[in-house]
Amino acid sequence: MLIITAKDYDEMSQKAARYIAAEILLKPDCLLGLATGSTPIGTYQELIRIHQQEGLSFQKVRTVNLDEYYGLPASHEQSYRYFMQETLFDHIDICPDKTHVPDGLTKDPQSYGKEYDELIVALGGIDLLLLGIGSNGHIAFNEPGSYFTAQTRLVDLNPNTIEDNSRFFESKDDVPRQAISMGMKSILDSKRIVILASGAGKAQAIKDMLEGPVDPMLPASILQLHSNVTLIADKAALALVQPD
Ligand code: F6R
Repeated sequence: MLIITAKDYDEMSQKAARYIAAEILLKPDCLLGLATGSTPIGTYQELIRIHQQEGLSFQKVRTVNLDEYYGLPASHEQSYRYFMQETLFDHIDICPDKTHVPDGLTKDPQSYGKEYDELIVALGGIDLLLLGIGSNGHIAFNEPGSYFTAQTRLVDLNPNTIEDNSRFFESKDDVPRQAISMGMKSILDSKRIVILASGAGKAQAIKDMLEGPVDPMLPASILQLHSNVTLIADKAALALVQPD
């Protein structure tokens, strides 16, 4: 795994945005896999700046998001569709029908998950997948204990994730208990993966991802088996990693 060190969150965001911008320049109709959460916000802001000031066009870009809270409509301020519109899509020239976020209101999550994975294949597979990491090592909402072969599906959120994400809601009780999450299979089938990490809260998960065994209890550790992963992390997130 290639590790790119940034001095802080802003530098991590700039480096990640340049990486994504380069992918779009090389393949204007690339399929990007996108994450939500706090970590990629600066990256999306930087991509908007590159679009506005340097003319990077997203017109042909296609996107698939990692996950959506189950039970939240797209109009809900904490839904991930809402987040993507507010944080990125509404500020760039992307075609709305080329963006895909799992439907949190699907009545048949099992068939829906299968269709979502089929859609990714039909779109040619993810060229570049942007990931964050949970403090418990989850990627997308593949929580500790997830099968490495898991398909996109309805998942129960881990108590630790509910606690971490309660900062976005009025109270912990308002955090949905389930989500539709892209499975490990589609994640691992991505051609290239960029994983971002910032802050001391991610340091143990990053250490375990890089130095621990490949273990379903630390879902991100599976990335050790992928041949094209780049970790872009700030110094605080890398603080526990042994230097070579
Ligand atoms: C978000 C996602 C999650 C987050 C992770 C880190 O779409 O799939 O895996 O990347 O929970 O969240 P933040 O960035 O808020 O610390």
